[in-house]
Amino acid sequence: MYWATAALILVFSFGCDLLSPPKEPATGFTEFGNIGELYESYFPIGAAVSGGEYGTNSFTYYPANVVSVFSSFVAENCMKPALIQPEEGTFEWDAADVIVDAAEARGAVVRGHTLVWHSQSPAWMTAGTKEEARARMRAHILAVAGRYTGRISAWDVVNEAVTDYGYRTDSPWYTVYGDASYIQDAFDYAYEADPDAKLFYNDYGVVNASKRNTIKNMITELRLKEDHHLAGVGIQAHWNLNWPSLSEIQATIDTFSDMGLEVQFTELDIDVYGGDGSIAETVLTDDLDEALADRYGEIFALFRQNAEKITNVTFWGIADDHTWLNRFWDSTYHNDEFRQNYPMPFNTNHEAKRLYMRITDF
Ligand code: XIL
Repeated sequence: MYWATAALILVFSFGCDLLSPPKEPATGFTEFGNIGELYESYFPIGAAVSGGEYGTNSFTYYPANVVSVFSSFVAENCMKPALIQPEEGTFEWDAADVIVDAAEARGAVVRGHTLVWHSQSPAWMTAGTKEEARARMRAHILAVAGRYTGRISAWDVVNEAVTDYGYRTDSPWYTVYGDASYIQDAFDYAYEADPDAKLFYNDYGVVNASKRNTIKNMITELRLKEDHHLAGVGIQAHWNLNWPSLSEIQATIDTFSDMGLEVQFTELDIDVYGGDGSIAETVLTDDLDEALADRYGEIFALFRQNAEKITNVTFWGIADDHTWLNRFWDSTYHNDEFRQNYPMPFNTNHEAKRLYMRITDF
């Protein structure tokens, strides 16, 4: 019931996002290079997309020349447990199928997101005893990862299982298991379902030394790489204009690369409000456009320097009219409020922004 209500609210709010006119049409570039092709020798360049859930299909909503610059796609929502198996045994495949089919038709790779998470997870899945929850986890992973066997380049098997200082003990998965061994199970089941997919642990705030060390300790303690098929760490990269520093990003890449793991930047977006939840809505001024271009420029230069260690860089969206940051601030998703943010490579008119020109000019 809760999820049905939440889904309705989301349908409504996503519909509104698409109907609202841009607050301040920003000048963009109607001619732009193909970033996926330009980065072909470095790593795939991805975007989070919708496949029709909440009424939006990114592949038909955005102009063809915009969608076709990406060489990797990931579902922003429709592969998450609450959406793809809202009730036990009832699977909603349509939107996920749209994304996988559309990506393949373009020759793009697909990241799978996500199999086990404390959020957007239906309550029934973790209800009851540990053994009941465990059986449901296995059934879920075999069904979802199994449906796309051989078609997913990397799965975010477990998302956000730790805080800065240890396991996220209030996760319903941790609670029902009583310990962190659910993480090992998730990787084992994902391997059983799709042995060819690269299996990833994905999280936010990974660039902070405390969280980075917590993740490193988790991987070591649970022997995720040695015994449970872990291939890499996904760094979400919900960042801002000033944080993190390039040296923190570099140290994070090195930490996991030194463990023999791949690194992917899985949910990149630069929040122009810098984590400030109280300030009024700003417009995309020339100065802000330039600051974004500088920031993305330095980040992508660092990524290119580390191309041997990085195997995917994905934006968490395509254009500024459809980004979760228009509703997410103060660590809260505001279903009923909208504050225009400017994190994406394309503007609200679906033109390339200056940052796009900067990161494709090297
Ligand atoms: C977000 C989506 O962008 C929103 O549409 C949804 O309402 C909430 O989830 N970390 C993740 C992503 O791993 O799945 C989240 O996506 C953003 C934070």
